[in-house]
Amino acid sequence: MSKIPKKEVVKQPRQSTDCAQAPYNSGSCVNGISYPVPASFETLLELRDVDFGYGDRLVLSNLNMRFTRGQVVAVMGGSGCGKTTTLRLIGGLVKASRGQVMFGDQDVGKQTREGLYGLRRRMGMLFQFGALFTDQTVYENVAFPLREHTDLPEELIRDLVLMKLNAVGLRGARDFAPSGISGGMARRVALARASALDPELMMYDEPFAGLDPISLGITAKLIRTLNDALGATSIIVSHDVPETFSIADYVYFVANGGIHVEGTPAELRASQDPTVRQFIDGTPDGPFKFHYASESLAADFGIGGQA
Ligand SMILES: Nc1ncnc2c1ncn2[C@@H]1O[C@H](COP(=O)(O)OP(=O)(O)O)[C@@H](O)[C@H]1O
Ligand SMILES: [Mg+2]
Repeated sequence: MSKIPKKEVVKQPRQSTDCAQAPYNSGSCVNGISYPVPASFETLLELRDVDFGYGDRLVLSNLNMRFTRGQVVAVMGGSGCGKTTTLRLIGGLVKASRGQVMFGDQDVGKQTREGLYGLRRRMGMLFQFGALFTDQTVYENVAFPLREHTDLPEELIRDLVLMKLNAVGLRGARDFAPSGISGGMARRVALARASALDPELMMYDEPFAGLDPISLGITAKLIRTLNDALGATSIIVSHDVPETFSIADYVYFVANGGIHVEGTPAELRASQDPTVRQFIDGTPDGPFKFHYASESLAADFGIGGQA
């Protein structure tokens, strides 16, 4: 990740009385003096007071998130808490019922069809269980978004595809069919395909699901490397704590429709919050219940008495 030289960070201090209240990435804050946000720490994407539900059921409420350029940010939380939905809001696949999803200075929810198409061109998405096109070779899979979104001549497409495949270590596998490569390799091809257009924002939905430990480690490192090489911003949705924490700069932990806790991986690791602890330690019971809410055992088995 490109770092800004120190002297650029500490110019023109502003007086501030409420550093403790300063939002994430609002610039550094030392001894009550806050410093402006350096250019490379700009916000690329911001969710502001977002509500969203499917039908009448609110899934996310009053959600606020910021994604800073150059960072890898994790969105974590239990199944069904709304992680995929958050990515769908960002990609404009669904619209917030309240609040805004700002990508740069554009409100994703207010785009025309063409505007949205233009914005999506700047986003790369690795969908949950995102499969490759099985009837196309590895090469064709990576070429697909380039053909779909650009009018580049075939020679240039070839160079770009080979560069992208090289970045994930699979230049030599270009002519294979997806059925002829391992699950870990297929995930890497999917990464190459998602990054084909050099997106500013990469979104990964459960990128480690179903991978063996070695492929999992490789995929995690690749996500970080691709982010830094592209100068992009990445969002990882995952419940894989060790791998995600090893590459993330910042973590949003979502529960009960909103952000339950946020911070750096080190801060979350040190958290004593029971929900976060249960998630990190993988304990079977805690704020997330092992037993789905039910009648008492006694009532269900008709044995009378109190449960
Ligand atoms: N298309 C849909 N229609 C209705 N409910 C949905 C739909 N997609 C997701 N949901 C519900 O919204 C909630 C959040 O889903 P999702 O964002 O997929 O969760 P996560 O990715 O965190 O597991 C879940 O309760 C899920 O059942
Ligand atoms: Mg999901």
